[in-house]
Amino acid sequence: MSIRSKVIGCGAYLPKRVLTNDELAERLETSNEWIRQRTGILQRHVAGEGELTSDLATRAAEAALAEAGFSARDLDLIVLGTSTPDLTFPATATRVQANLGMTRGAAFDLQAVCSGFVYALAVADNFLKAGQAQTALVIGAETFSRILDWEDRSTCVLFGDGAGAILLQATPGERGVLSTHLYSDGRQYKLLYVDGGPSETGTVGHVRMHGREVFRHAVANLADAIDAALAANCLTPADIDWLVPHQANQRIIDSMADRLNLPTEKVVTTIDRHANTSAASIPLALAEAQADGRIKPGHLVLVEAMGGGFTWGSGLIRW
Ligand code: ACO
Repeated sequence: MSIRSKVIGCGAYLPKRVLTNDELAERLETSNEWIRQRTGILQRHVAGEGELTSDLATRAAEAALAEAGFSARDLDLIVLGTSTPDLTFPATATRVQANLGMTRGAAFDLQAVCSGFVYALAVADNFLKAGQAQTALVIGAETFSRILDWEDRSTCVLFGDGAGAILLQATPGERGVLSTHLYSDGRQYKLLYVDGGPSETGTVGHVRMHGREVFRHAVANLADAIDAALAANCLTPADIDWLVPHQANQRIIDSMADRLNLPTEKVVTTIDRHANTSAASIPLALAEAQADGRIKPGHLVLVEAMGGGFTWGSGLIRW
């Protein structure tokens, strides 16, 4: 029987502070109506002063471990998807490792922007399938509020802070990660990037995006990644129980659901309340849909994401 990376726990954490569209409209030339109509976003959570990506990640990881009844001391691996690390180094994952009291195994960050969770899922799945780890925490955690230009209405209204985590265990059987497909194309990185970094500028920088162009690429690339996932498993859209997409724009989510002929009830959306939390958006949505009983054992879950780089990818999980 094949070994699969089975999901044995999910956790989420959102900072307490909620920033509404109306609050943004008080300080910027924007409106609740524009943001809602173009993106589906109504509000976002923002990390408090001194609240770090590692703090958010730790809370989400603790929740996933508690749900599984699993001790951090027995973990082999942490893969943390983030583009907003606490510091340039060490990896934020090692801070999470220390916070959790995990003193063995390995912990590292993975940077694929909004595709960070799908990339981290693929890496952890491969470690488990290769027998290099038995149990892995896959975390997506971001504090994008720290790299936004709060004067730039075309980007600052889109993002939020948060963290989500899933716990994977190598288990014989049919349940678990069925496949992952990862892609990147660096040629057009200037369509979505941060204009700072330790090597090029020595500054932290701010998010810069040509939204309309990114939108166009996202729809085409995500469609390809979804097709690849279904074809690799000889499945059709009718087999999918839940689409759990990266939450960048409600219109991108709707176009993927339409393409798959999936009714909105089969799509997990959090963008209205969380906005785009980059690498955290998929595990936040997974944790929510598992906690409220929508995703059940045996369900087929499709995840997909596209982000800066460009990077994009998909994953199919038999829950
Ligand atoms: N409030 C009011 N008006 C605004 C705002 C705002 N917050 N932001 C932009 N506008 C204006 C623009 O200035 C422009 O005005 P103009 O026509 O007078 O020049 C007009 O609205 C239209 O701007 P567009 O950028 O063309 O608007 P669009 O319909 O494309 O929506 C959006 C913008 C929401 C950003 C959309 O393009 C999008 O979601 N793109 C994809 C984002 C994405 O998927 N990112 C990938 C993941 S993110 C990551 O990896 C970090």
